[in-house]
Amino acid sequence: MGRPELRGWYHSHVKNSAASSSAPAKKAQPMPTPVPMLDLKRQYAPLHQELLAALGAVLETQQFILGEPVAAFEQAAAAQLAVAHAIGCSSGTDALWLALAAAGIGSGEAVLTTPFSFFASVSAILRAGAKPVLADIDPATFNLSPAAVQAVLESQRGAAVRAILPVHLYGQTADCAALLQNAKERKLVLVEDAAQAWGAQSHGVNVGSLGAAAAFSFYPTKNLSAAGDAGMVTTNSDEIAERARMLRQHGMRRRYYHDELGWNTRMDGFQGAILSVKLRHIEAWNAARRQVAARYDALFTAAGLAESSIYPTHGVILPHQVSGTRHVWHQYVIRTARRDKLREFLADRKIGSEIYYPVPLHLQDALKGLGYKQGDFPEAERAAREVLALPIFPELREDEEQTVVAAIADFLS
Ligand SMILES: Cc1ncc(COP(=O)(O)O)c(C=O)c1O
Repeated sequence: MGRPELRGWYHSHVKNSAASSSAPAKKAQPMPTPVPMLDLKRQYAPLHQELLAALGAVLETQQFILGEPVAAFEQAAAAQLAVAHAIGCSSGTDALWLALAAAGIGSGEAVLTTPFSFFASVSAILRAGAKPVLADIDPATFNLSPAAVQAVLESQRGAAVRAILPVHLYGQTADCAALLQNAKERKLVLVEDAAQAWGAQSHGVNVGSLGAAAAFSFYPTKNLSAAGDAGMVTTNSDEIAERARMLRQHGMRRRYYHDELGWNTRMDGFQGAILSVKLRHIEAWNAARRQVAARYDALFTAAGLAESSIYPTHGVILPHQVSGTRHVWHQYVIRTARRDKLREFLADRKIGSEIYYPVPLHLQDALKGLGYKQGDFPEAERAAREVLALPIFPELREDEEQTVVAAIADFLS
């Protein structure tokens, strides 16, 4: 394998660390430079006055649940996404349940989704009283494969499917155009799991407005994050919005008159206030994430580590970006063959990494009842063995990225 010319950083990191490892044993080793997976304190530092003022304003109003602070965030969020309605709620998990329930998905119906996602993508379907049906992923994007969806829809399991729930995994838009084709042909409802994708787009259209309804999470590690749990449903349908507002408050349209069985999934005033401040910065943060991702790509390529296939052999497969989409890089995820050993190696050097997700949903103990088995979704199963998320956040410095790539180069050399 011919390696392209190595850049200066590679010599200083990889070569020097190789030299130091062959140095006499007594010579003090340099302390590894830690690189955190995520450092929210760097986001907080320049914003803390603004955030404290926003929290103070909530205390002045004493509106701790919904109220003005949440309404203001809902309005600003809807405007930013160019969507008719944004309904704040208490978590991304609740947003998924609310979106499905408000779109009229319930018992006796099936919802088709991916086995390669966070647990809530499937558990929310069960909470809505519906049955999850799974289809495999595209190994290049890790998102639902429209061809696999088509095959499932044509199978026996597909008969009861009333909705498709694509997940925009790692911040990359799922192929909604192809999925909508399926949806239209069969009059299916499309509900987006946009938990990881605030600001992502497909051909200029924002995630959150690609289907009948969408669910966002503002969990603190998300690209748009609250200071606790929070979530949101977005929709262009007046009817779905009205139902979501009713369901998030125990099915009440009129106080203490309960039209349907809803739940308490209201957003806190403090979270609304924090999110209103952060919403003003999310475009810049997403742009910074794109820069971080582009730098990783360049560093891996310069080090000769990038393999241009779907599955890894000796190096790393860099994340694939679908043309026509705007990726927001919630995560930068490589594929590599000796993933678990690499993760240990990075941990020894105090470099953060994470596996999203080590066990596909059809193999989770809690979901045995769905009736799937090992081998049913080979792409999801293989991805679960090979993916590794590297540190990415808007404030991640270039020297930190160099440290990460140099460590991976060391491991693979
Ligand atoms: C894809 C996906 N769906 C749903 C959720 C659930 O969001 P939350 O943790 O806010 O309940 C998450 C977040 O963890 C997620 O990543």
